[in-house]
Amino acid sequence: MQDDGLLTFDILSNSLGKTLDLEKHDARENLPRASVTFTSYMTFSQMSSYLEGLPAQYPQRIRVDKPGRSFENRNIYRVRMTNNITNTVQKKVVFVDGGIHARELVSPAAALYVIETLIANTKLTETIEWQIMPMLNPDGYEYALNKDPLWRKNRSKSPSSTCYGVDLNRNFGFQWGGLGASSSPCSDIYKGTSAFSEPESRALRDAMLPLKGKVKAYITFHSFGQTILYPWGYSTQVKHPLTATMDTAAKAMAAQIKKTTLAVYSVGNSAVVYYPVAGASDDWAAYAMDIAHSYTIELRDKGVYGFKLPASQILPTVRDAWEAVKTLATLV
Ligand code: ARG
Ligand code: ZN
Repeated sequence: MQDDGLLTFDILSNSLGKTLDLEKHDARENLPRASVTFTSYMTFSQMSSYLEGLPAQYPQRIRVDKPGRSFENRNIYRVRMTNNITNTVQKKVVFVDGGIHARELVSPAAALYVIETLIANTKLTETIEWQIMPMLNPDGYEYALNKDPLWRKNRSKSPSSTCYGVDLNRNFGFQWGGLGASSSPCSDIYKGTSAFSEPESRALRDAMLPLKGKVKAYITFHSFGQTILYPWGYSTQVKHPLTATMDTAAKAMAAQIKKTTLAVYSVGNSAVVYYPVAGASDDWAAYAMDIAHSYTIELRDKGVYGFKLPASQILPTVRDAWEAVKTLATLV
């Protein structure tokens, strides 16, 4: 159904201005936009239809581009949104991503919910340009949906091994190859052959780097654990100079979640609360992009279902995500 929707979109827009007469053009304008849902886990193709349809619906407010393609050649989308998309020069940027880890299915849903909520709440787009990459690991996501629900990595094939996949959250170019990362291609935390060896981590890097100085906050959604984590994640010994600022902001996010959805999120330095992890996107964003607010948010739950969060919990979980993002946006 949704797959057909994507096909329809492609065929119609490719023919626009060529063979379609005015009548058919009008008919296309009246099509409902491809939908997003938070009551089931969407396929990548459903997400693509939804994302591809956004700019035509909100031409003044939304642009969608593809800063990269996955190993298996799927699009890696970026949604840019603000109240007037032609005037973004002076605006600060809040950057959000999802789907780095395949099996954390609720993570891309959270990023999509941020997009949907910003469409309805224009206030938060007046002073901020939002850049959202909801699905950084489409190959892994599809593999987790269809083949192996506990698949974590991307799906790249290393020439030196029969195993597949690099842990994208060990592949970023800051402290690459340090603690909590493996050199074995068969490991779930395989770091890859070099920093940014993977097209998916490069897509995030390439989207972000030109925005250096403008990005005031970065949030990457993961699951599970209900924790809000901040750098440095690569070491329990080295403290980020802005630890106090981030700790305060993270506590504000957790408090707002508690107040609205009643979910309890804990807060802390990621190396201390979890374990030291080198080459993760949050540390890279804080270091290479010089972003003062960089967070990994581990969404629901606390381990009852873990990665296999029932679809009935998507909506409450993405609401947590929105409350956190909204709170942070008022602090940057
Ligand atoms: N669960 C995440 C992972 O293992 C945590 C990463 C947190 N960031 C960090 N730099 N330690 O990838
Ligand atoms: Zn993760």
